[in-house]
This record gives sequence, C-alpha cells and structure tokens, in this order.
Amino acid sequence: MKVSIIKNKNVDYQIFVGSGAIKLLKTKIKFYCPNANKIALIFDKKVPSKYKVVLKKQLKNYKVYLHEYFVNENLKSFTKVNSLSEKLIKNNFNRNDVIISVGGGIIGDFAGFTASIVKRGINFINIPTTLLSQVDASVGGKTGINTIKGKNLIGSFYQPKMIITDLDFLRSLTKRDLICGFAEILKHSLIHDKNFFRWLKKNTKKIIEDLDFATLKYAIIKSCKIKLYFVSKDEREKSIRMKLNFGHTFAHGIEAACNFSRKINHGEAVLVGMNLATKLSFKKKSCSFETLSEIDKFYSDNNLPSNLGKYFSKKSFPKIIQYMIGDKKNVDDKINFILIKRIGKTSKPGNYKIKVRDMNNIINRLVNFNF
Ligand SMILES: NC(=O)c1ccc[n+]([C@@H]2O[C@H](COP(=O)([O-])OP(=O)(O)OC[C@H]3O[C@@H](n4cnc5c(N)ncnc54)[C@H](O)[C@@H]3O)[C@@H](O)[C@H]2O)c1
Repeated sequence: MKVSIIKNKNVDYQIFVGSGAIKLLKTKIKFYCPNANKIALIFDKKVPSKYKVVLKKQLKNYKVYLHEYFVNENLKSFTKVNSLSEKLIKNNFNRNDVIISVGGGIIGDFAGFTASIVKRGINFINIPTTLLSQVDASVGGKTGINTIKGKNLIGSFYQPKMIITDLDFLRSLTKRDLICGFAEILKHSLIHDKNFFRWLKKNTKKIIEDLDFATLKYAIIKSCKIKLYFVSKDEREKSIRMKLNFGHTFAHGIEAACNFSRKINHGEAVLVGMNLATKLSFKKKSCSFETLSEIDKFYSDNNLPSNLGKYFSKKSFPKIIQYMIGDKKNVDDKINFILIKRIGKTSKPGNYKIKVRDMNNIINRLVNFNF
C-alpha cells in the first residue's frame, strides 16, 4: 500500500499514513532529528512484539533504550512521568535525542508530556497503534496526565517531529478498541463534514467489522485533516478548537466517575457523551428532530454504545456532574457544552452553558428521553 503524507500549511510536521509506514522511520528520523544519538522507545506491551524487532532494526544506528509498559489511565500520572524522566536524565538524554512513543493514546499522552518537560523539550515522534490514537490523540499536540480531580488536567501543548501511522498495528486490536477509535471518526464527521457522515453511513461496517485497509486509510486521513483544520486555526484551544470537545464534557465526567476503569473506555464514553449532547441539542432547540433521528439511527444501525443508563444508575449521576464541573473549559459555576446545529455544524464555543444545580435534572431527562 502506498504511504500517503498529510501536510497542513500551518502545522510544521507531517503524518505518514499507510500499511508498512514504519519502514520509513530510519530515513525520516535522520531528516527530522539529524543530531540524535539516543532514542527512548516507549512501548505499549500489548503491541505485538514483532514490531519491536522491526523498529529496533530501523534504529540500529542509535543507542536505543526500551521502556515497556502495560497501560491503563494510571500511567498518565506524575509519579510515572517522574520515574521515566529520572531515567532519561540519568542516561544523559539531551534535546537532540528522541522519545518515540509506540502505543495508543495513553502511551502517546504519557510519552509526549514527558518529552515536553525533560530538559524543557526533547524531540518527540509519535507512532500511534490504536485507531483512536491514529485518528485523534496523536494529532494536535496536546499531551496530558490525570489527577484525582479529573482527566488530562495537567499537560502541555507539544508538537511531534512527525507521526507515523501504520495501519498494520490495527490488526491486533479488539473490536471494542476499534469502536473506541471510530467514536472520534464519527465525531469529526458530525462537527464538520456532512459528506463524510454520508460516506460513513455506507462504510462503517467495512471499518469496524471488516478492517478493510483502503476504507480505513480514507477515514483516518479524512479525520486527521478535520482535526488539523481546527488545530491549525486555534492551537491553544481558546476558541474554535473547543468544537472538538463535542460529547467530551459528558465523556470526561463519565470516565472519571468510573475511576478510568475498563468498565467504559474513552471512546465508549465519547459515544455515550455525543448521544447525550445530541439530545441536549434538540432539547435546547439547537438541532431539529430530523438531525436527532438521523444520528440516533446511525447509532442503532451500527450497534454503537449510547445509553448512559447501561453503565450507571441514577444515584451515580451527581458523581459524573462533580467531575464535569472540573473540566478545563469551565470558567464559572456553569458547565460549557458544544451542541450540534445540524450534521456537519456545531454551536460556537461558549454559547451554551448550564448551571451546575440544573445538571442532575437535565441528565435524568436526557437518559429517559425516548422518541
Ligand atoms: N492528546 C490528545 O489530543 C488526546 C485525544 C484523544 C484521546 N486522548 C487520550 O487517549 C487515551 C485513549 O487512547 P486509546 O483509546 O488509544 O487507549 P489506550 O492507549 O488505552 O489503548 C487501548 C488498548 O489497546 C492496547 N493496544 C494499543 N495498541 C495496540 C495494538 N496495536 N494491538 C493490540 N492492543 C493494543 C492498549 O494496551 C490498551 O489496552 C485517553 O487517555 C485519552 O484521554 C488524547
């Protein structure tokens, strides 16, 4: 398969997408990090180990330090970042050297954040290995770790030197993790591109059931371009980039209320969150009944998780709200939402806020809302 290059004139790194793309590493690293001697390979232990062999071969001209992790959200913590940073410093890593993350969004956020703070910034290369990290987490330069008060509350904006998105990694993912990544593909279509949504109506099964590489490649490239559109206009998330948070205000509350356990993963929480945000959009007269029904039909046609009530009892809703209050986008005692206006278009950031004291009632109404 031919490797495609995604460029954006406002972003100074490239994304190489295709089956077999990791074979570009040797030449590209020489170009983007010409003075590097040492490489820290931050490797997700669930990525098949044959890729370790391929990568080490690509990096045979460097001194490679392998750091392997079984990942869960606890990896995104100061304790773990501190431990990795101390090891890098002990091994005399300097700004010419490189940290390469090989894994999903968790490894990428963890390695990217560490790269951004050690010696005030070491070269960072991202090799995303889950669908979610290929279509979303690796793009845009946000890195982050969690705190007991919520998700991604500490972090930095730090762009990689390049991203290598190799479709072959997706072969070993579970269907659950494919759907997780699909959540962000769907989000990109809903907030920005009606034609892409129409295309997804016809092609979703080829992505999540058949793992069809040609279809996946199209969806990944389209998704990365939509994300880059928002990021390049507003890297620091002061305005338009917030639209990417459609469904995420709920999702972050849901994940935190589950203690970031595998009871519900990030993408499932995003799918449930987008479903709630769409119903809220209808209730607030932001979108029509037709838009609400079309999105609802898409969920049921593709059997996507949508129902908060399946994961939580009513009693737990206040806990979700407590975490939603801590979201970075809130600046007063109200919770900020991005609502959908029609497929491909959302409200402007800051236009819809709901008082914290009204939230429990609203969530109850949304969960019980049948049409
Ligand atoms: N920085 C950003 O802009 C951004 C955007 C979206 C999400 N995120 C973050 O990304 C994280 C979620 O990312 P994710 O969904 O990739 O989760 P993840 O990193 O937990 O990966 C999901 C699971 O797949 C395994 N895995 C990874 N690659 C594999 C492979 N090739 N084969 C088999 N198993 C593999 C992992 O070990 C893990 O068990 C969250 O922490 C979220 O906050 C960050």
